[in-house]
Order: sequence, then C-alpha cells, then structure tokens
Amino acid sequence: QTRRRQRLFELLARAAAFYARVLWESEDATEARRYLAARGLREEVLRSFRVGFAPPAWDRLARAAAAQGFSADELIAAGLCTRSQRGLYDRFRGRITFPICDRRGRVLGFGARRMGTGEGPKYLNSPESELFRKGRVLFGADRARAAAAKRGRVIVVEGYTDVLALHQVGLQETVAVMGTALGEEQFRELERLAPRIVLALDPDRAGLAAMERAGELAERLGLELRVAQLPAGKDPADVVQELGGEAVEQAISSATPLLEYQVSRVLADADLEDPHARDTALEETLRLIAGTDAGIHRQQQLVRRVADELDVPVEWLSARLREHVGGDR
Ligand code: GTP
Ligand code: MN
Ligand code: MN
Ligand code: MN
Ligand code: MN
Repeated sequence: QTRRRQRLFELLARAAAFYARVLWESEDATEARRYLAARGLREEVLRSFRVGFAPPAWDRLARAAAAQGFSADELIAAGLCTRSQRGLYDRFRGRITFPICDRRGRVLGFGARRMGTGEGPKYLNSPESELFRKGRVLFGADRARAAAAKRGRVIVVEGYTDVLALHQVGLQETVAVMGTALGEEQFRELERLAPRIVLALDPDRAGLAAMERAGELAERLGLELRVAQLPAGKDPADVVQELGGEAVEQAISSATPLLEYQVSRVLADADLEDPHARDTALEETLRLIAGTDAGIHRQQQLVRRVADELDVPVEWLSARLREHVGGDR
C-alpha cells in the first residue's frame, strides 16, 4: 500500500515536470506563456510553483507515463487520466496547470485553468482521491511555510493566481483555499503554519459570506483571525496587477477583526447621499455592533466612527446601541 502511494506520488511529480517542460519548451504553449505574462506573472515565480501547460492533444501525458512504466490504473488513480470507449485520455488538455502540493511539497493533484477563449469550466481540478482531499489541502503551503513561521502570520486567499501574485511582491506567507469554503481541517493546517491568520478572500458576496463563517469558526477554535479589506471588485491578484504590490501590502497590514471589517463594508457600500440608505446602514451597523461580544471600548470606537460617517450625534447613537443590546438579548 505504501509502495502504491509512493508510485502515485512519483507519477504526479513526473506529470508536474512534464507539464512544466511543455510550458517552457513547446510551441503548443506559446499562447499560454503569453497569457501568463499578460497577467503579470513572471518566470521565476511560475518555475518556483512548477506551473505548467497541458498540451491540447488527447493522450500525451498518458503515453509519456506509459512509456515510463506506469499503468492505466495508476494514471486513473492519480486523477490524471480518464477511461473512455476509445481508451485512456488525459484529464487536462490545453490548460495551464498548477500543481497542488502537501506541506512537504509532494504533488497531490492539479488545478488547471483554461485560457481566455477555452471551453469548459474556468478551472478543472483533480478529482478527490486517496491522495487528494481538497478540504484538507492549502495550495502553496509548502512554499509558504518558512515565511509564515518567520513572520508569525499566514495570509489566506481564494485562488492559485492570488498566491503567485502575492509571492511575487514579497508576501510569501500566502496560501489558497481553492474556492471560498474554509473548513475546520484547513484551520488546523493554518494553525500549524502561523498563529495569526489574515483572510484576503475576494470582496464579493461569496467571499464575504465565507469570511463571516470563517470568523465564527476561528472564534470557536480560539484562533486569531483578521480580515483584509480589498478595493471593491478586485481580488488580491487584481490588486497587485492593477494597483501594485504596495496596495495589497497596505490592505493586508491594516486587516481588522471581522466586526470592524463588516462595519466598514456597510459604510463603504451605503449611498451616503440617500437618507433612506443612511438609515438602513445605521440599523445594519447597530445590529452588527450589538450582536457581538466585542468589549465596550471597541463598541464605542465603532459607534464614534458610524456616527461620524453617517453624521448623527454620538450620544444618540450610543443610546440606540443600548436599546439594541437590551432588546436583542
Ligand atoms: P483567475 O480568474 O484565474 O484570476 O482565478 P481566480 O482564482 O480569481 O478565480 P475565482 O476567484 O473565480 O476562484 C477562486 C478559486 O476557486 C480558483 O483559484 C479555483 O481554485 C476555484 N475555482 C474557480 N472557478 C472554478 C471552477 O470553475 N471549477 C473548479 N473546480 N474550481 C474553481
Ligand atoms: Mn472568487
Ligand atoms: Mn478571484
Ligand atoms: Mn483572479
Ligand atoms: Mn432595530
């Protein structure tokens, strides 16, 4: 059984090397190289993460692996190939490949992105297998480990490209959850990397909801969690590319606890010219502040900020907060 696992790990490592070789050496990958360059990802970081390109043909990897003595069963078990009536074919074709590794750097599977015009889902991932359990792995954990330990902090983003972009601007303590869900097992992994966690998920509805769930989970697990506020509509990789490394560094170093983040968002999203929208924002922030067990000082600080931004008297807002606390509990 361990022998079998070793062979699967060996096969996956060779597949990563195969795809990387295609990316850097094949004419098939000209468009892929151009695509990555246009996204601002440089060769050094791409090589360090062993990013590659799966050629568009049906069975290049299958044939290369067979020539090296790997069986069809092994290729399927590793999630690299699928069987059809016509034989074995490669799962990843015409896509940029991101090897997903465990903490020790062993390849467990791949995330594979189509380029602009490609068909099918944006990302195709390896199927869950005896080696690869998505809910347990953090993309980039192997590359982030040293920096996270040294800096005492780990940054959590959604995607592969976010990890690469942040590494490139010196934030090597970054890992990705590959989507938005952050479960208990991933928190356990994060805890092993560093005591402080900074979430920088995409600032959209899904990312926001995930940060709220993560905030509650972290509290329950007794972990220190902060949330970075990114400019509207931009994920960390977009921020790096459009606004530069300093903008993302700034958002991450001014990350706040979840409550402060939520209040900031309500204020940032409200149309302050519209009296009705201001009332709604006021109710919403009161509900948030009253609903946590933040201490009196944090609550007062937030009340002052809300009063200031919505232009209402602090004393009046404080009184409303007391009503809320009394009424809601
Ligand atoms: P780019 O568009 O390349 O910048 O990717 P992104 O990371 O910004 O994508 P997005 O925010 O949409 O998704 C975050 C992460 O969720 C990705 O890195 C993937 O791990 C995963 N993901 C996104 N889209 C898909 C999909 O269509 N299928 C699967 N299986 N995973 C996806
Ligand atoms: Mn997203
Ligand atoms: Mn994104
Ligand atoms: Mn993106
Ligand atoms: Mn009310």
